[in-house]
Amino acid sequence: MQFFLDTGNVDEIKQALEWGILDGVTTNPTLIAKTGRPFMEVVKEILQLVDGPVSLETVSRDAKGMVEEGRKLAELGDNVVVKIPMTPEGMIAVQELESEGIPTNVTLVFSPTQALIAAKAGATFVSPFIGRLDDVSSDGMKLIRDVKTIFDNYDFDTQIIVASVRHPMHVLEAALIGADICTMPFEVMKKLFQHPLTDKGIELFLKDWEKVPGKPF
Ligand code: E4P
Repeated sequence: MQFFLDTGNVDEIKQALEWGILDGVTTNPTLIAKTGRPFMEVVKEILQLVDGPVSLETVSRDAKGMVEEGRKLAELGDNVVVKIPMTPEGMIAVQELESEGIPTNVTLVFSPTQALIAAKAGATFVSPFIGRLDDVSSDGMKLIRDVKTIFDNYDFDTQIIVASVRHPMHVLEAALIGADICTMPFEVMKKLFQHPLTDKGIELFLKDWEKVPGKPF
């Protein structure tokens, strides 16, 4: 499973790259706004750092506007993926952009049939939001299972980006289901490393190391 960071924070991206576990980045208007920095400045920095797919979101409501914005965004780098909302107008834009060779990521997907529509429209990626479903007492992970089954049933090439991830169990379950990608906040990525027995084990080994004679370091 590929790991994407769901962020506009360049320092987080640098850290994940250093760890060697970062395959791509997703952004949205909220995440960019959180940085407090000018859009173009942040995006250019992200694109300089990341070789993998970087999703940048359109904000128009109509297909024509989305396509125009998508074309502009795609000019910023070969690895730009244009994020399009799951609406009828959005699906018109997906078909046009994909036909021009511009990859799309259909966002704000909350049902299996929405994901099916995105795949039929030819989207490169689809982003089912699991945390926001959990927030309203729906089973976010069931959505991922259903989308995976549907895509397997019909051999769709559209890749599943598990989005709106809140904690490491979401990442684990997404991997067990076989989702292609999990995009997560930096805090969740950091937690994936953690286990109390690892910390305890390191402490114990270091304590015992003090007793070892003739140490080379
Ligand atoms: C996905 O691409 C979205 O940016 C993101 O996962 C939304 O997550 P949220 O529900 O935490 O805002």
